[in-house]
Amino acid sequence: MEALLCKSLGDPTEPISLTSPISISRTHPIPKLNSPTSIRIRVKATSLNYANYLQILGKYQEKFPLPFVPGSDYSGVVDAIGNKVTKFKVGDKVCSFAATGSFAQFIVADENDLFLVPDGCDLLTAGALPVAYGTSHVALVHRAQLSPGQVLLVLGAAGGVGLSAVQIGKVCGAIVIAVARGAEKVQFLMSLGVDHVVDLSKDTITESVKEFLKARKLKGVDVLYDPVGGKPTKESMKLLKWGAKILVIGFASGEIPVVPVNIALVKNWTIHGLYWGSYKIHKPDVLEDSLKELLSWLARGLITLNISHTYRLSEANLAFAAIKERKAIGKVMIAFDDHSTVRSKI
Ligand SMILES: NC(=O)c1ccc[n+]([C@@H]2O[C@H](COP(=O)([O-])OP(=O)(O)OC[C@H]3O[C@@H](n4cnc5c(N)ncnc54)[C@H](OP(=O)(O)O)[C@@H]3O)[C@@H](O)[C@H]2O)c1
Repeated sequence: MEALLCKSLGDPTEPISLTSPISISRTHPIPKLNSPTSIRIRVKATSLNYANYLQILGKYQEKFPLPFVPGSDYSGVVDAIGNKVTKFKVGDKVCSFAATGSFAQFIVADENDLFLVPDGCDLLTAGALPVAYGTSHVALVHRAQLSPGQVLLVLGAAGGVGLSAVQIGKVCGAIVIAVARGAEKVQFLMSLGVDHVVDLSKDTITESVKEFLKARKLKGVDVLYDPVGGKPTKESMKLLKWGAKILVIGFASGEIPVVPVNIALVKNWTIHGLYWGSYKIHKPDVLEDSLKELLSWLARGLITLNISHTYRLSEANLAFAAIKERKAIGKVMIAFDDHSTVRSKI
């Protein structure tokens, strides 16, 4: 089968060659069922997450022995089932996530780790949902318990997790403030009905949000969703009100921010570190319920995923470039088979 291999750590945006960090294997062995409850899936689509980029660079918190097949969330069709599988049959449309391995034509998973994609949901879209939307749903709904009328400030709001936080915030009835860079991203966020957008290419977060809060007679931000870190986090902290919640999601800026705990004390802030993948070990029920709810929202049209770039596996370096160069609005995907859906904007 075709699979993407990371053979050495380095920049995955380098043109693919025999010596580049990533390369395509066309003779990678098709994975075999490994238990009576295992299922083999023919992958239809797999999404790129910033974490996949960091893993290949060797800068992610988890390290994998080389060579490895990167890729975490995916959708596809059940291709083969173990003799004790009860929940799925060959031909079912499913989605899921793994630590590694989805940048390949086939992947094997246990039936308990798979989710049925409801009728009416596009399979490509379902492959973009688990990591980004799962993270934001657990963060906003389970941890922050975001409620109608609360003010949610989302950094990196046009990125993978950011855009999912914006949409989930709207579903929860929050007043959503989005921070992104550039006219195209701002326009897109406005089209989603976001209450206020800060364009970092011309505005500062503090001033722009203060003006908005004043005009709407709001006291401050209740929940900060932060996948970026660095200066934007520092600025955002000036806007948090008494009792605010800070959701620490990631550090796309490369800078780990410092939260002044003396101010956290005085203002009664709660800081939530959130590592979504670890819920699978520590609170699998929360994660399962969350993904099921998201898939039902998708089927009912409450959320619509935006896929700005779709590539073939052989173009994976271009897909990583869309992430690195901050061109993505929503998700970047790799699609198998159905090349009619492939469109690349760079
Ligand atoms: N905690 C968890 O379980 C979890 C789960 C998923 C992701 N994450 C983390 O969340 C972060 C974002 O992931 P993602 O998949 O949403 O990435 P993404 O799609 O690439 O989005 C990142 C966004 O961050 C902004 N950004 C600001 N400074 C940046 C910089 N120097 N380089 C790149 N982007 C920058 C960009 O927005 P502008 O260009 O508009 O400024 C971009 O849209 C990553 O750190 C990732 O590891 C954590």
